[in-house]
Amino acid sequence: MNSTRIHFYYKNITAEIIGSEHGITASQFQELSQKTTPLIDQLNQQRKAGKTRYRDLPYNDRYPKQVREIAGQAAGECENFVVLGIGGSALGNIALQTALNPYLYNLDAAQRKGPRLFVFDNVDPIQFGSFLDWVGDKLDKTIFNVISKSGRTAETAAQFLIVRQMLLEKLGPAGYKKQIIATTDPREGTLRKIANEAGFRTLEVPDGVGGRFSVLSPVGLLSAAVCGIDIEGLLAGAREMDQRVSRVDFFANPAALNAAVNWHYYNRGKRISVMFPYAWRLKDLSDWYRQLWAESLGKSKNLKGQDVFVGPTPVNALGTTDQHSQVQLYREGPNDKIFTFLQVKNFDRDIVMGPAPESTPELNYLAGKQMSRLLNSEKLGTEYALLHDKRPCLTVLFDQVNAYTVGQFIYLFEVTTSLAGLLFEINAYDQPAVELGKEATFALMEQPGYEKLARKIKPVQQIDGGYLV
Ligand code: PA5
Repeated sequence: MNSTRIHFYYKNITAEIIGSEHGITASQFQELSQKTTPLIDQLNQQRKAGKTRYRDLPYNDRYPKQVREIAGQAAGECENFVVLGIGGSALGNIALQTALNPYLYNLDAAQRKGPRLFVFDNVDPIQFGSFLDWVGDKLDKTIFNVISKSGRTAETAAQFLIVRQMLLEKLGPAGYKKQIIATTDPREGTLRKIANEAGFRTLEVPDGVGGRFSVLSPVGLLSAAVCGIDIEGLLAGAREMDQRVSRVDFFANPAALNAAVNWHYYNRGKRISVMFPYAWRLKDLSDWYRQLWAESLGKSKNLKGQDVFVGPTPVNALGTTDQHSQVQLYREGPNDKIFTFLQVKNFDRDIVMGPAPESTPELNYLAGKQMSRLLNSEKLGTEYALLHDKRPCLTVLFDQVNAYTVGQFIYLFEVTTSLAGLLFEINAYDQPAVELGKEATFALMEQPGYEKLARKIKPVQQIDGGYLV
């Protein structure tokens, strides 16, 4: 039984540490507890009513079984596994790969347990073109996992159409069918139709689970399993965290504390939320969190339909890299941010620094010491400096980075987001503001039915030379 945990540490946001002007006092914590406790209960009720289906993914037996079966086939068939998707259909895959596989996974066959992994969450012809040049003569050893709930997302559809043509030309219909796995709606939609017609192997994007909450479904699990990630460990970690985030005891529930503290600071003018991992492996989890937080909480209307225009702005930084980039601003700029550090207690490996040249004794303090000690000292040093300037700091402490703790982290931030949605009184599960830009793109790409919108866009489309310098 795995006993590694993540822990949520909140002392360094208290008034005791950073004073009452910027810190949270004991009585403010009591108020937050009173406000949030009924919402934990409300969220638990919503779950029972089937309104937060992502909560039950770690208990679903069918999806991991299907994923394992297809992953087993794919791993034996290919040297390259390519995810075509965007947003919630890509960020979780990237985050799992960075967190749980080696840095040089794609480059070094000795360091990987599966095929190379590429995740394309864009439509940049230079980037994609470079990949196509490389993969062109390896198509029979490459599997493409197209992930899209609807299949109509322009970016994913574009990637798919390019790959489809290439596969048909080089491998014919049989090769085309064999090299694609579609993850999509179980019953309807454009990609489901294409998959049924072509006879692709398919997996489900579960009903009632939004893209950004879907990493623990076949959306995120297939590429992970193909690349040797312990998906059972991930799901077990999520179940462990479920025990903690379901507790109707504010001070024992890390998601409730996390959501309430962020909401509280938002209302006190700290509207930027910086996630600051001190472990390279965790850097793409903060990218995943950025989408989850932004798309879920940035809303113009509350649940009553009133204008509110709320939403904390998520920012991601990386320790120690951003100490040499952002920390000047974080310490001396406006005190409008809350920091969430991610810190690792035990690194899987360590490297000891060699002796300093005799002529430079000023480097001796490093000699013989472990690199992880330097990394964690820099985290503490940065946190100390931020606290000196009364900047509130939370830490998520990982005993170790493994599938079990990463599963805990994912579930913690998903439930934190749901609770923050209840505190802000908004719908955390839709993304209406994404639509207009998508429709404008359809209009610009001359999709029939969007002619009226195309005319409206004209003034923006035409560059006005009077303003061109
Ligand atoms: O979180 C979300 O819902 C979005 O980011 C979607 O995942 C993204 O827009 C892709 O959608 P689809 O799976 O329909 O292609």
